Amino acid sequence: FKIPEILNEPMKGYAPGSAERKGLQDALAQMEQDLPFEVPCIVNGKEVRTGKLAKQPMPWDHANHLCTYHEADPQTVTSAIEGALAAKADWESLPWNDRAAIFLKAADLVSGKYRYKLMAATILGQGKNTWQAEIDAAAELADFLRFGVKYVEELYSIQPGKNAPGNWNRLEYRPLEGFVFAVSPFNFTAIGGNLPGAPALVGNTVVWKPSPAATYSNYIIYKIFEEAGLPAGVLQFIPGPPAEVVGQVIAHPDFAALHFTGSTFIFKKLWKDIAANLDNYKGYPRIVGETGGKNFHLIHPSAEIKNAVLQTVRGAFEYQGQKCSALSRLYVAASTWNNGFKDLLLTEVAKLKVGPPQDWTNFIGPVIGRPAYDKIISYIEKAKAAGGEILVGGSGDDSKGYYVQPTVILSKDPKSVTMVEEIFGPVLTVFVYDDNNYEQTLELIDTTTAYALTGAIFASDRKALIHASNKLRNSAGNVYYNEKCTGAVVGQQPFGGARASGTNDKAGSMAIFYRFVSARSIKENF
Ligand code: SER
Repeated sequence: FKIPEILNEPMKGYAPGSAERKGLQDALAQMEQDLPFEVPCIVNGKEVRTGKLAKQPMPWDHANHLCTYHEADPQTVTSAIEGALAAKADWESLPWNDRAAIFLKAADLVSGKYRYKLMAATILGQGKNTWQAEIDAAAELADFLRFGVKYVEELYSIQPGKNAPGNWNRLEYRPLEGFVFAVSPFNFTAIGGNLPGAPALVGNTVVWKPSPAATYSNYIIYKIFEEAGLPAGVLQFIPGPPAEVVGQVIAHPDFAALHFTGSTFIFKKLWKDIAANLDNYKGYPRIVGETGGKNFHLIHPSAEIKNAVLQTVRGAFEYQGQKCSALSRLYVAASTWNNGFKDLLLTEVAKLKVGPPQDWTNFIGPVIGRPAYDKIISYIEKAKAAGGEILVGGSGDDSKGYYVQPTVILSKDPKSVTMVEEIFGPVLTVFVYDDNNYEQTLELIDTTTAYALTGAIFASDRKALIHASNKLRNSAGNVYYNEKCTGAVVGQQPFGGARASGTNDKAGSMAIFYRFVSARSIKENF
């Protein structure tokens, strides 16, 4: 058995009149006509309707919701955990080729039969525009599944390599003992597939709590795994009230690992709760998390201005700044700012059209919900109160959906609140540094926030680029030269950061799979 050659899923363009545009338009129209959907919990492959109903709203339309889902109650959570434990022996002993084949088939269903449906659920439910949904729900999700197979195959082939005469040594990559708990976020449908998928691929069974704001797209992913042949019980799908579900799951003695993407605050809380339960577990749980960011662009005086501005606009405002990788603090040399950067930046931001995500002309859609909207607006107010100058945007409209204007704030204080704290919205704060204070600026970038997820350095002077990269070596897990700090591609830029941004286990690489195996070293005498 040799896995097929793995390539990144080609991105579609959705040009007017194209077959793909028609395909997506039809899927959107159908979904808008059929909603709201009903989503059950799925335990041991069976639908469970608890009757404890919650709604996944649509952030662009207060009048309707995308789905009503059954929240897992304590009995359902218990059954899901027991089911995961019971399904494990068969799943882990299934030959690797068969596990791989299920994931490769799931990837083909994502990129083919269900592409537009998954995208439509991501557009309507999570507020992404077409191209952001294509990057995420079509391409990245398929890439996670396919490259995962390639990476696991490579991992399994890493062997000790030395045998003394008369014996044979080998490493057996066993799944963890117990079950894995996956807690996935709203902002990437693809991560909804990868958080439960990656541990399952190496033979674990997984209890999966999707984000309440991405319930429907994540349910479609579950159904795709099922259609691809994933045995019942390997993934236990339990949407539900986060605090209750999470508390119950991590209190279980067979809890073996957490695979998490979400806020720094929640991740730290879970880590502390896990620590408090440590004496009840059979082993030391693996804790893998990707959390917040306060990501930077540094514009050196030698930067090519047009490229730096266009990349800055995309990095800060694509998907309304709701990528954990999104740019939110910009450091520009005064010489560059005053010689064209500022004017071009403001012109480009003013062009960004705001409105419902299924309207093809809108670049900016809604932010995900009420708490997000209120938080973003309050940060804009705090910036104003602290003397920040709003250069463009600065307001919102929550009458029909949660719309925030793309906002650029000029801050004279490099440690002002919006330069330092994560906002998770379309708000970019700019600090213009004196060209003579370049070294101090590097120091500021490195020390003013708790995070270290992504960053980008723009310079055409190669020496300056490398100097900044060295000085900022701990400030970002993903660094880009002359390109925006978002958009890591599976198989090309393994993704993840350190400090308060996560455990830096690099999604989209072999490293992440190693966290979900417990290797056994075998020596055999002949
Ligand atoms: N991988 C995404 C990016 O790089 C964020 O999760 O933008």
